[in-house]
Amino acid sequence: MDKKWWMESVGYQIYPKSFYDSNNDGIGDLIGITEKLTYLKDLGINLLWIGPFYDSPMDDNGYDVRNFYQVDQRFGTLDDAKTLIKTAHEFGIKVILDFVLNHTSDEHPWFIESRKSKDNPYRDYYIWHEGKMKDGKRVEPTNWGSFFGGSAWCFDEPSNSYYMKIFSDKMPDLNWRNPKVREEMINIGEFWLDVGADGFRIDAVSHLDRAPLEDIHDKKHKYPLDWHRFSNLPKVHDYLQELNEKLFKPHNALTIGEVGGQATIENALKYASFDANELSMVFNFDHNWCNNLNEVVDPKKLKVDVIQLRAVFKKWQDAFKEKGWLPLNWLNHDQPRLMSHYGHYKYPKASGKMLATVIHMMRGTPFIYQGEEIGMTNYPFQDVQDFDDQSSVANYRYQLEHVSDNPVYALKKASLKSRDNGRTPMQWDKSSAAGFTKGIPWFHVNPNYKKINVENSLKDPDSLWHHYQKLIDLRKNSQYHEVITYGELDFIDLENKDCLSYTRLRGDQTLLVINSFSQYDVMFDLTQYNILEVVLNNYKKTRIKNGMIFLKPFESVVLEVKVKA
Ligand code: GLC
Ligand code: CA
Repeated sequence: MDKKWWMESVGYQIYPKSFYDSNNDGIGDLIGITEKLTYLKDLGINLLWIGPFYDSPMDDNGYDVRNFYQVDQRFGTLDDAKTLIKTAHEFGIKVILDFVLNHTSDEHPWFIESRKSKDNPYRDYYIWHEGKMKDGKRVEPTNWGSFFGGSAWCFDEPSNSYYMKIFSDKMPDLNWRNPKVREEMINIGEFWLDVGADGFRIDAVSHLDRAPLEDIHDKKHKYPLDWHRFSNLPKVHDYLQELNEKLFKPHNALTIGEVGGQATIENALKYASFDANELSMVFNFDHNWCNNLNEVVDPKKLKVDVIQLRAVFKKWQDAFKEKGWLPLNWLNHDQPRLMSHYGHYKYPKASGKMLATVIHMMRGTPFIYQGEEIGMTNYPFQDVQDFDDQSSVANYRYQLEHVSDNPVYALKKASLKSRDNGRTPMQWDKSSAAGFTKGIPWFHVNPNYKKINVENSLKDPDSLWHHYQKLIDLRKNSQYHEVITYGELDFIDLENKDCLSYTRLRGDQTLLVINSFSQYDVMFDLTQYNILEVVLNNYKKTRIKNGMIFLKPFESVVLEVKVKA
């Protein structure tokens, strides 16, 4: 395996709209990010993934791009982007941008042309279909559902046909079978790499092809959502190989594909093994839903299923062991907040630190999602109108139609999962709007900001923030740098329902990482090991006696050990 700079990086994801507002119009911006680079450097990260900031009507907060070559005026200017990247580089921080390949905004000039007429030169940039006849009526070409609810097709009056859109009506899907589309996207990628980006997080990358247009058999739903109809199909690999050959490889770009759609390991390795010639890494989501979220309504009843979580981590880590490299992240801007989802409300500090240790001691490149490092939580939504995100509203309606007609119940269910939880403004201090803006913030500020904020976190040497800083420092700068970064990872004690534990091994160094997910005291057998050093603990005291370690609720320990002969 060749070592790469990004294997030694620790990443941080920024959702630009909600990070920091420099000009007090209530919307986070690029200058705001630049102003906070010292904060990020102090935390220790050296890689930034910045969400889309291109010109956009903001139907999906910028994932609906109107002009790929322009910075949206709300976020700043192209010069601001250049300054941000340049300053980050001066701080030793690499920058990857969000590359949105699957669709554009319906306000993109290509789409405006495309919908004009059937013989327009841009017609083939998108996926058009006449529809089909059913009971004497014209209907969508297929009954496929979209990610944001409703049909995956939208009827377009002017050209009297349907266009495909697996996200919102305002996000028509590009037709990747058209070589011109691929060429355009390569040019766009080149433009941003020339501006100075070090690579891309590639949005919705698994969706670039479609299965044959046949209906899904499902009597319950009018528009069933079957990911397999537009995820991880063979042609996607051809397109990525072409992008790799013409764009990524010549620029030596780091690429991390967002691979939803329940990618199999086989497929994931096709995308991102060392010899794949497609992507450097893939983000997957299998470990994001290993709790009882679907069974509960009360967030206090959420509980992680350790057996399931371990199985998922193990599956991915084992598959990529010698063959590839993985990003390590808990959650991103499309999911609820880590603390509310997997943490414990009675033990926020201990459980938050434990969760951080789980990820940061694994083999791969860790990514922190903004606010995770201070333990930001889900937002207490009171009404469906509080949602900004379309998929949250769609989920609310789904609950009402298919599960229970009780609006209180529907709101609670939609809130547990809502993407808006992660999108409330970053909580910097206790001043109004949490120091995110001096104006009126574009979105609700979590009412807990007076307690949970950066200022408090920096002041308290025992805070979650300092634990993240320690973890990053251990990985990057300590005598354990090699073993944490490159060491072999083996999960142990595979039946344990309370503790998720693994070893890391490199040369003659062995680390043992034990993480309790229990809210009660538990014991863990250490008789196989000689303990050389307590490297890290989220409690002050480590209690080892007669070959047993006694763990407090959500205790997490990293030990340097020697396995007994
Ligand atoms: C990805 C993004 C998500 C967006 C979608 C459509 O899943 O992470 O935020 O809504 O793609 O671009
Ligand atoms: Ca602003």
